[in-house]
Amino acid sequence: MSGVPVLSVRDGHKRFGAVHALKGVSLDSWRGEVLALLGDNGAGKSTLVRCISGVHSLDEGEIRLDGEVAALSTPALARRAGIETVYQDLALFDNLTPSQNFYCGREISFPSWLPRPLRFARRRTMDREAAAVINRLKVKLPRLDAPVALMSGGQRQAIAVARAAVFARKVVILDEPTAALGLRESRKVLDLIRQLRDEGNAVILITHNMEHVLELADRAVVLRQGRKVGELKPDRTNQQELVSLIVGAEA
Ligand SMILES: Nc1ncnc2c1ncn2[C@@H]1O[C@H](COP(=O)(O)OP(=O)(O)OP(=O)(O)O)[C@@H](O)[C@H]1O
Ligand SMILES: [Mg+2]
Repeated sequence: MSGVPVLSVRDGHKRFGAVHALKGVSLDSWRGEVLALLGDNGAGKSTLVRCISGVHSLDEGEIRLDGEVAALSTPALARRAGIETVYQDLALFDNLTPSQNFYCGREISFPSWLPRPLRFARRRTMDREAAAVINRLKVKLPRLDAPVALMSGGQRQAIAVARAAVFARKVVILDEPTAALGLRESRKVLDLIRQLRDEGNAVILITHNMEHVLELADRAVVLRQGRKVGELKPDRTNQQELVSLIVGAEA
């Protein structure tokens, strides 16, 4: 691939006390590409994602966006830089409605100098956009104006995916986005991921579902115990190799 990767992690280390969760991980993510980030439980996938999306900071190493070293020290900064994340633990606010969850922390979209009616109109447009994406996911929500606390795991997951899709500008990271979804809803999320890629986003997908990897991923990076142990283009012929990389057995 030519040019500069939209997102690049170089020699990233992260420690939690005695746990060395990331041990010199490097990866590149390109526009128009789905990168699968694979590894067994505890391999360091979510830690890496949280470092990219500003929840944690790397202890060593750097993250570049479009070739420039990026300061992503808070989730708000990462979002402003164009990185949308669907977290494994969802990170929705229980007491807010789906729509309020969509706009939470995005007050920047409604600057105070904007006249009130204009702010209102903009919010209405965004509400419609949010509802359209949620509809496209074919997820039945009891109502869009009820608190998220009243919704099922799958419904919450769909809201988080829809939110990322609406605001995606550069990089979209999805940490096990279909884990709580039924077959039909999973399919819709896969379609949406494909669309996000075709719109020119760099997509990083964490999943334990090998079928989804084979169907969707242009490239796969495998982590094991905090280290990158492999990188390949997944297809049927190297599926076994991929599984061996993940579990650490000889191919
Ligand atoms: N906030 C934290 N404090 C202490 N240890 C942590 C923290 N977050 C992660 N770890 C540890 O870092 C290691 C990597 O965890 P991580 O959540 O990144 O794994 P993962 O690859 O996402 O696994 P899974 O597939 O189960 O989600 C684990 O040993 C985990 O216990
Ligand atoms: Mg995880």
